[in-house]
Amino acid sequence: MNKCVTVIVGTKWGDEGKGKIAAREAKDADLVIRATGGANAGHTVVYKGEKLALHLVPGGIVYPQTTCIIGPGTVIDPDVLWSEIQMLKNCGVFDVEGRLKISGRAHVILPYHKDLDELHEKMKKHPVGTTKRGIGPCYSDKANRIGIRMYDLLLPEIELEKKIKEATKLHNQAFKENGMEEKIIDVRKLAIRCRLLGLRLERCITDIAPIIADKICYNKKIVVEGAQAFRLDLDHGDYPMVTSSHPVTAGTLCGAALPPQALKTVIGIDKAYNSRVGNGPFPTELPASIDENGNVIKGAKPLEGDVVRDLGHEYGTTTGRPRRCGWMDAVILRSAKYTSGIDYLCINHLDTLGEIGNKLGYVKVCVGYLYQGHMIDFYPDDIELTHEIPEPIYETLNGGWTIDSSCETYEDLPELAKAFIKIVEDASGIPVKYLGTGPANDDLIVREDV
Ligand code: GDP
Ligand code: IMO
Ligand code: MG
Repeated sequence: MNKCVTVIVGTKWGDEGKGKIAAREAKDADLVIRATGGANAGHTVVYKGEKLALHLVPGGIVYPQTTCIIGPGTVIDPDVLWSEIQMLKNCGVFDVEGRLKISGRAHVILPYHKDLDELHEKMKKHPVGTTKRGIGPCYSDKANRIGIRMYDLLLPEIELEKKIKEATKLHNQAFKENGMEEKIIDVRKLAIRCRLLGLRLERCITDIAPIIADKICYNKKIVVEGAQAFRLDLDHGDYPMVTSSHPVTAGTLCGAALPPQALKTVIGIDKAYNSRVGNGPFPTELPASIDENGNVIKGAKPLEGDVVRDLGHEYGTTTGRPRRCGWMDAVILRSAKYTSGIDYLCINHLDTLGEIGNKLGYVKVCVGYLYQGHMIDFYPDDIELTHEIPEPIYETLNGGWTIDSSCETYEDLPELAKAFIKIVEDASGIPVKYLGTGPANDDLIVREDV
């Protein structure tokens, strides 16, 4: 089988700049696929100098030769998708509906999934801090075999109504018991809305398997735009503070309907500092003026985490929430290498880390942990049991750097930036091939010798 698939995966807690790298890889690709998650993702792509925040459509849509697939492993909010298609058309992107193929097997996020997401979070003693986009409840319905699929949006209204009625029996009970009577599903109204969205999206909803088979057969470049990241994986992340899909490479291939034999390269995406939005462990997190609800405390004296967040503009692409920020954790990369099979790393925001160093006078990289009285070089999976967050062991570089337009190759980079990359490579065991130096798709140094 031809090996023609490049997979882009997040290595930490999301927002590493996957959208930018997937779009850049799509420049000479035939097919680009979103494989997991839904509108919880927010991927930034620069098109004609403008930042586009995409939640469902792969960023590769901006290149006119690509076919773009939203795969069977995703969960699709049809309202969000429809708005996104209109936004892309208004921006002048070529033939969006002609090139976008939506797997009929992908599951549909309906308003009751978002209401359930809200309810589940409210009922939890330790909420996950979800994006409230209905992701968990939709994947639960899928696993419970009561989900509504994109194909169902093409059914006659009466059949769709029956399916929704069957699917929402228990959900209505939960709304009733929790004083949310106003959320009880008006099945008829919802079926009419779904049918309308089905008619709008009909041209794009299809069987994606023949498209994929054709591209593999003719050895055409396929790019998979992973969403979320390693530590948010349902099986391999910080359970229960995770999302409800499998963002690691294997889950991504499954969600895209791609055979593992077609895999050529896996590029793990990270940032030169790290961030997390939502709750859960974050060993290298820096103190910041954020209250317990995740809001920035106005007028507070800026702490290290605030400096990183402000210089990196770390506010959620999907929710606008301020992101928690901290130093680069190379130990997690080491674990991601083996779980996700990462061949190369792309480290974005090398420019921002230099500015952080200029402001604070130092930058740090976590190269090991102190955990349960031992030094370890992997991410432990019993944190929930021990209630102990691993304590980072840092290597520190004094100072920072500035990356200007004259930095075009690795050799042009300031020596301190190169020292930072060397520490990351040594600690993670993964070669750094790509370095992000700015937000545009082409703000990237590629090391051809790696
Ligand atoms: P994704 O979810 O992994 O696609 O990442 P997001 O789009 O949520 O967040 C990444 C943010 O960093 C976006 O605002 C990008 O424009 C920005 N970005 C990506 N790479 C770089 C880089 O190398 N330097 C700078 N300064 N910004 C970057
Ligand atoms: P991209 O693809 C950052 C986080 C949420 C929350 C947890 C569960 O842009 O990197 P969910 O709504 O999925 O049930 O929330 O996962 N989360 C993300 N964080 N980037 C994302 O996507 C995320 N998708 C989910 O903040 O902590
Ligand atoms: Mg994002």
